[in-house]
Amino acid sequence: MAHNLLQGKRGIIFGALDDQSIAWKVAEHCVAEGAKITLTNAPVALRFGKIQALGEQLDAEVIPADATNMEDLDQLIDQSVEKLGGKLDFVLHSIGMSLNVRKKREYTNLKHDWMLKTLDISALSFHKLMQSLLKKDAMNEWGSILALSYIAAQRVFPDYNEMAEAKALLESIARSFGYHFGDRKKVRVNTISQSPTWTTAGSGVKGFKQFFDYAEEMSPLGNATAEECDDYCVFLFSDLSRKITMQNLFHDGGYSAMGINPAVMDDVE
Ligand SMILES: NC(=O)c1ccc[n+]([C@@H]2O[C@H](COP(=O)([O-])OP(=O)(O)OC[C@H]3O[C@@H](n4cnc5c(N)ncnc54)[C@H](O)[C@@H]3O)[C@@H](O)[C@H]2O)c1
Repeated sequence: MAHNLLQGKRGIIFGALDDQSIAWKVAEHCVAEGAKITLTNAPVALRFGKIQALGEQLDAEVIPADATNMEDLDQLIDQSVEKLGGKLDFVLHSIGMSLNVRKKREYTNLKHDWMLKTLDISALSFHKLMQSLLKKDAMNEWGSILALSYIAAQRVFPDYNEMAEAKALLESIARSFGYHFGDRKKVRVNTISQSPTWTTAGSGVKGFKQFFDYAEEMSPLGNATAEECDDYCVFLFSDLSRKITMQNLFHDGGYSAMGINPAVMDDVE
């Protein structure tokens, strides 16, 4: 049920690849709540993904941009402001990619040039995006910028591999840039630390099914789904969350606060 929470707001959604993507569902929900959006993804994802269909469904312009490339980001922001008819109120960074994970390199045997690429795509791109938004003065006051993270930024999940470092950096950038954006423009910046979710990026992690099932059992409320994540994103883009900033917000059914769950101990016995 829509509540017009984003009526009159304008935003950019990064990272909708297919209808499993968290960003796909966020885009649908933002438009249902009254927002006008542009969609973006890497040029290669535009060729192989299904984002054009989403653009048609939501009457949203699809603008290609490699999130590691400043020129692409500058153009994306200029075009979005022009197409949407004014400055932006929200941006979702929903981007993650690791070549070492993709090529099944173990954490203790990484290719470091690939690792640098992982950090660039999955974390530095967030800094680049915000630097461009700030320089262009493209955000309205009380706007909201979000990125998606995972608890491996704080705790060890061996198979999450180098993405743990990428998420730690991403969360740090949200805090640091959140200060500057808040101080100068009254814009808030947060990360959502989401439960394991069945998507292309998620299921690429080794042993994802066990990962998912374990978290499901450990969390008193169960894993947060992609649909529940899009509810949370809409809340954080709305005026109901104006003073939440520089936070990493766990959206995980209680998983991050658990030590032992008797349900899991039963399995161990
Ligand atoms: N699925 C999970 O279990 C889970 C859990 C916590 C956090 N997250 C995070 O949620 C976010 C979205 O992932 P998802 O699970 O929806 O998977 P997804 O594979 O649907 O989305 C990842 C997106 O990143 C895009 N991308 C990759 N390289 C890019 C580049 N250079 N420029 C622009 N875009 C690029 C991909 O094209 C894709 O659309 C990621 O940050 C991911 O780490 C996912």
